[in-house]
Amino acid sequence: MDGIASKTKRIAVLTSGNSRGSNLRAMIHYFSEQQQTVVVDFVVITKRSAPVAEYCLEMGIRTEFISTKDMHSFETTLSDMVRERGVKLIAMAGFLKKLSSQFLSDVGIPVLNIHPALLPDYGGKGLYGMNVHRAVFADARTKSGATVHLVDSKYDHGEIIAQEVVDVSTCRSVEEIAEAVLQIEHMLYPSTILAFLTSRQ
Ligand code: GRF
Repeated sequence: MDGIASKTKRIAVLTSGNSRGSNLRAMIHYFSEQQQTVVVDFVVITKRSAPVAEYCLEMGIRTEFISTKDMHSFETTLSDMVRERGVKLIAMAGFLKKLSSQFLSDVGIPVLNIHPALLPDYGGKGLYGMNVHRAVFADARTKSGATVHLVDSKYDHGEIIAQEVVDVSTCRSVEEIAEAVLQIEHMLYPSTILAFLTSRQ
């Protein structure tokens, strides 16, 4: 397939219309340093003008636009693509929609997400993006972090695969917490994906 070595594992990354794409960039960078044992085969965008689309174009990464207006059709299209492309894992990076339990069991490959807090704290409906960091700041927490977990049909609920703590006791604003956590995410997510895929060979 496309001249990619057979031991290479292909993954798909799900983004949303306004994703910054910083986790995607971190993955591309990390996987290239790891002799491409993992490659991002395609990136799903849910808005044609998504900021990550431009980055993917520059990097020669395939993008697939799939509308989330009808989630049943989104899931069917995604399942077909995953099968056609031989993708072994789906990684959500800023994708905010729920996936159905039917899809998650039928797709036959793991779906991972990264959450910008130490789950099970600060997770669930409405706790995404800056809302998470606002809540951590409001509670004057001294520690926050990032969690990589398997996706199930409830928000931020699936089995925890990896977690890393960051000291936020010196952070003076919500933005400072967000920045500290994001730095952790960029290390944790790609390395966890690689370790997870390697352990399942
Ligand atoms: C990250 O903070 C991640 O924890 C959350 O969505 C954000 C995506 O950021 N699930 P980016 O688009 O990867 O920069």
